[in-house]
Amino acid sequence: MITFNKTDIENKLADTYSFNWTAPSNIAFIKYWGKVDFQLPTNSSVSMTLKNCHTNCEMTVTIDEAHKLSLMFEEQADNKFETKLRKHIDRLSLEYPVLKEFSYKFKTSNTFPHSAGIASSASSMAAINLCLTELLLKLEQVKEDQFFREASRLSRMGSGSASRSLYGGYVDWGKTTKEYGTKVENIHQEFSHVGDAVLIVDSAEKEVSSSRGHQLMMEHPYKEHRFEQANKKCLEMIDILKNGDWKSFIPLLESEALELHGLMMSGQEWFVLMKPNTLSVIDKLKKWRKDTGARVGFTLDAGPNVHLIYHMDDRDKVVSFINQELTALLENGKWIDDQIGTGPQKVSVNE
Ligand code: PMV
Repeated sequence: MITFNKTDIENKLADTYSFNWTAPSNIAFIKYWGKVDFQLPTNSSVSMTLKNCHTNCEMTVTIDEAHKLSLMFEEQADNKFETKLRKHIDRLSLEYPVLKEFSYKFKTSNTFPHSAGIASSASSMAAINLCLTELLLKLEQVKEDQFFREASRLSRMGSGSASRSLYGGYVDWGKTTKEYGTKVENIHQEFSHVGDAVLIVDSAEKEVSSSRGHQLMMEHPYKEHRFEQANKKCLEMIDILKNGDWKSFIPLLESEALELHGLMMSGQEWFVLMKPNTLSVIDKLKKWRKDTGARVGFTLDAGPNVHLIYHMDDRDKVVSFINQELTALLENGKWIDDQIGTGPQKVSVNE
């Protein structure tokens, strides 16, 4: 627990102070599925940070022992998320009691549509925790050179996959520490310009939350083998990204996505999150790729939508393939055009 002095807060901060950050979503190439304790992953994961799908968070704090909290998502009160956030900050206050000295107003918005089937917990938790970490930095409770590391650790406590949204490019979480994510360095040029076409097969809310999914994984008959395999796959994936080897990348990416869904389907309490059109898209991709040799593979999150991960040099081919062969399989023909991104950004400060 980090102690503080009340007059110190007043000296360091005006009565009311605002923080503003945007943080991106990310797509896991090797998935986090299973957790213990306080959101600690049972295997390591590797993801690519996105560019266009992100959350903006403005946090205004007032020195106030009433310790109130409100959250507006796209100008509307969001009571469910507000309750989650209150619990999160109360939990962080056990480590940083100074957080109890404030009332908070959060305003968040996403660049991607609410019902697009894109999980917003990673980008929103990352943006919110960047604001909280900046508050802690201002109060000298966090050191400057540990800013992103600490923001990643706090984000993880809100949503596991959010720990990977703190850096641009590729991020691993769990290889060296389960506490926070770290940027994968020395990526090959072949993987520096990569697109992600998010094909919206179905935007309805998932039948099974990821929390329940993690829980069920802990009772899964194959769990030990899965955790061991996933850790190996992370090392392989990182090697591939460093060696620029698209030929090995595609099968690893795709078999991992299907393994995640295979695990969901093979537990005692099973569930199927793919839809018939998810399989049709995958099938068409496999055939088309064989004919064209395009550098593109698919991955799936815990839902029916398909992410096509492709080499930017093959973008024109991929986009015309989507338009000609896939849009009929998508909900209102919808897909989100995204790509690798550079990570969070500080928007403004009131100095
Ligand atoms: O961060 P959570 O608890 O929503 O879990 C995310 C799990 C997957 O999206 C399925 C995989 C991942 O690593 O992002």
